[in-house]
Amino acid sequence: MVKIAPSILSANFANLLDDIKAVEKAGVDLLHIDVMDGHFVPNITIGPLVLESIKGKTNLPFDVHLMINNPDMYISRFAEAGADIITVHVETCPHLHRTIQNIKSHGIKAAVSLNPATPLCLIEEVLHELDMVLIMSVNPGFGGQKFIENSLKKIENLKEMIDNQKLDIDIEVDGGIKIDNVDKVVKAGANVIVAGSAIFNSDNIFEAVKMFRKKIDK
Ligand code: DX5
Ligand code: ZN
Repeated sequence: MVKIAPSILSANFANLLDDIKAVEKAGVDLLHIDVMDGHFVPNITIGPLVLESIKGKTNLPFDVHLMINNPDMYISRFAEAGADIITVHVETCPHLHRTIQNIKSHGIKAAVSLNPATPLCLIEEVLHELDMVLIMSVNPGFGGQKFIENSLKKIENLKEMIDNQKLDIDIEVDGGIKIDNVDKVVKAGANVIVAGSAIFNSDNIFEAVKMFRKKIDK
């Protein structure tokens, strides 16, 4: 079963809860929350205060994507604020094994993300420790960018790595996913689909999610 994780980066921040309720009603599986620090990526977005303010107001699990330097400093803050999954970027973690244990010590799921230019071999030694791997299909920082086609091969290779080791790890893909390319992403092996602009910038959030579901379940 492929999961849909709308990224609230493209939601209407003046009415954030309305947009969250709309995707929840449309039947999505996770809420993808993009945390950016203006250092690791050239944008500043959401902090733990925002998670705290929506916690308890939706039943959707919080899928927290940390695009920040020194994530270890903030893992406990985000866990306490309601994160169900925390994803860190391999590019920000010199002690990746320790960081993964740090996330898991809060009783939540641990995931690692790779930028488009980062090779899969960097997570080989910790793969069995992970609940999910997030493949970036755009350079992180902004919503609404174009899908990088080379990501498809990377998803296929990751799927092969996971299957060869008989592991049970989700493959999430993030960036530039639209209704007209989601089938390729799923076919390559992804089972968690992030979509920001394609859902929140659409004329009708409910219909957009329904179209995604139709494409995915096909
Ligand atoms: C990019 C973020 C994504 C982004 C996706 O740095 O990690 O989650 O919001 O947005 P779309 O789907 O518009 O590419
Ligand atoms: Zn993201």
